[in-house]
Amino acid sequence: MNYKIAVLAGDGIGPEITNSAIKILNKTGDKYGHKFTFKQLLAGGIAIDKTGNPLPDETIAECKKSDSVLLGAVGGPKWDTLPGNIRPEKGLLKIRAELGLYANIRPAKLYQSLKDACPLRYDIAEKGIDIIVVRELTGGMYFGEKGIKEINGETVAYDTEQYSVSEITRIAKIAFELAKNRKKRVISIDKANVLESSRLWRKVVHEVALNYPEITVTDMLVDNAAMQLVRNPSQFDVVLTSNIFGDILSDEAAMITGSIGMLASSSLGDTSRGLYEPIHGSAPDIAGKDLANPIATILSCAMMLRDSFKLFDEAKNIENAISEVLEENYRTADIMSEGKIKVSGSKMTELILSKI
Ligand code: IPM
Ligand code: MG
Repeated sequence: MNYKIAVLAGDGIGPEITNSAIKILNKTGDKYGHKFTFKQLLAGGIAIDKTGNPLPDETIAECKKSDSVLLGAVGGPKWDTLPGNIRPEKGLLKIRAELGLYANIRPAKLYQSLKDACPLRYDIAEKGIDIIVVRELTGGMYFGEKGIKEINGETVAYDTEQYSVSEITRIAKIAFELAKNRKKRVISIDKANVLESSRLWRKVVHEVALNYPEITVTDMLVDNAAMQLVRNPSQFDVVLTSNIFGDILSDEAAMITGSIGMLASSSLGDTSRGLYEPIHGSAPDIAGKDLANPIATILSCAMMLRDSFKLFDEAKNIENAISEVLEENYRTADIMSEGKIKVSGSKMTELILSKI
């Protein structure tokens, strides 16, 4: 089969990690008889520099013509002082909305071989970490009414957290469906003791749950969840939450698995076209130094093969290649620990390629 992939490399380490991922996909294509064609498109800070727009119309149009989208990372200090509507991050939010990608799936799994890189106490890590964060991606505060105004001669800025029944219903269904093939447990995270939007969230999640009698659903307040993630992460299986809480908690979930450089994500909507990206950012401090860990982006490609293209063996093959390299003790700087072999980002890519 032929697959057209739009590549939004973006800023900072974005170009290096997407290049690594493209190599892995090409080799996978050679092995299994598929052809992947890649179209590089502008998004983020680089798009602002070249066109004045963090998400040019051409990028949107080409993404809509592609079978899936691979994204590196956007943003950096260079663009931090721009107004909100022309920041690199706005480009990312806009492509998610334009493609209708309301469900962001972020698996946080502790590899056996990376236990040493886990910052939690050994007896906690020992119990295992295998969490899927299901983050609502096109609603809530990141998309609600926002602005700046003067009240009594003082500047006031506001962002609005707003959720509709249909938005909550569709993301809850995704979480329950995923839970069916896992431990059949959903923890829904909100702030229902304070927020009206969370009270509606909780009510709707329980209504959806009625259609899934085999799944246990538990509510947890977000502040407690932040604490429970480091106290006893093995209690979490599928985590269902809003855009902002998912953004925050997924970084925490990533870190407890050893490094944010290991976490992939898929953003999905109602079609097979998804957007796949590592959850880490553009890491401008290490950009261009061949230090960045390409694994999160490569794992994102494995998710693309599985979720968008239904290429299950191919996806598994990539994941196995990564596990093997880790078991052979190779580590990029972010996951390095005593006694392991430190390698650059490009060396890590070569090692993974050699196992495909
Ligand atoms: C993420 C990132 C983005 C988000 C930023 C870059 C807009 O933090 O994907 O988690 O908040 O969604
Ligand atoms: Mg984030």
